[in-house]
Amino acid sequence: MYEDLRDQVVLITGSSRGIGAAMAVAFAEVGARVVLHGRDEVALDGVRRRVERAGASALVVTGDVTRSAALAAMRDRINAEVGPVDVLITSAGSSKSRPTPIEEIDEEDWRADVERNLTSTFLTVKCFLPDMKSRGSGVVLTLSSAAGRRASARTLVAYGAAKAGVQIFTQDLAAQVGPAGIRANCIAPETILTETNEKWIQGDQRQMLIDMHPVRRLGTVDDVARAALFLASAESGWISGVVLDIAGGATLV
Ligand SMILES: NC(=O)c1ccc[n+]([C@@H]2O[C@H](COP(=O)([O-])OP(=O)(O)OC[C@H]3O[C@@H](n4cnc5c(N)ncnc54)[C@H](OP(=O)(O)O)[C@@H]3O)[C@@H](O)[C@H]2O)c1
Repeated sequence: MYEDLRDQVVLITGSSRGIGAAMAVAFAEVGARVVLHGRDEVALDGVRRRVERAGASALVVTGDVTRSAALAAMRDRINAEVGPVDVLITSAGSSKSRPTPIEEIDEEDWRADVERNLTSTFLTVKCFLPDMKSRGSGVVLTLSSAAGRRASARTLVAYGAAKAGVQIFTQDLAAQVGPAGIRANCIAPETILTETNEKWIQGDQRQMLIDMHPVRRLGTVDDVARAALFLASAESGWISGVVLDIAGGATLV
């Protein structure tokens, strides 16, 4: 399955751990040429070994995705070493904030969440889009979150707002670049049991989160990776501008 992804150059930002790392291994398993990205070189080396065990080789690039100069340097290196990016997945992002009443949200924390989730997505797409346009092909997948899909009194407001911005940004992108042969879709996961979440979400809190999902479990990194493969492949060739909830139904209730 996904024969069309064989030898495609797939850049996954934020693939030193978590969802990004799982996507990298999944693309390696179908024969893609994976480009790993992050800032933690030790973690990246561990993912590179997993990709190699899956039978592929990986180029590793580093850099801060909130900085356009760092992105341009990454792009030039990728173009020189493996060729232009066919599939761009903007998975780098996170929040360090906590649920806070809006009047108490620190301005710097707000700006940081917008910067590392929304601005980083814009800058990354801006950097890689011209090459896709000039080749008349490409796929972009962005990462939103269930936090950007519906309101909650206990949400991380800045993170949710930034992730909601990622959705409309991706849809505007899809509308602009469809005629140039490029598809763009957005993935919106609910709580995924990454290594970090496995450690922090335990006991009663885990059960409370499970109970919020009509499909009575939390998500896995492989749930997201399988959706990414589908949205990157020609199997989804008529799908563009979609926000796909990977949420066990949680955003319905
Ligand atoms: N996990 C969930 O439950 C969940 C749910 C909904 C949405 N999401 C979204 O899915 C994506 C992946 O989440 P995750 O939980 O797998 O993340 P994670 O384990 O926290 O890893 C985040 C990744 O992003 C990279 N990164 C973050 N900021 C960066 C920056 N400024 N420059 C370069 N790299 C940066 C990190 O690189 P280094 O660590 O190497 O610096 C790391 O590889 C994120 O966009 C997140 O918001 C996650």
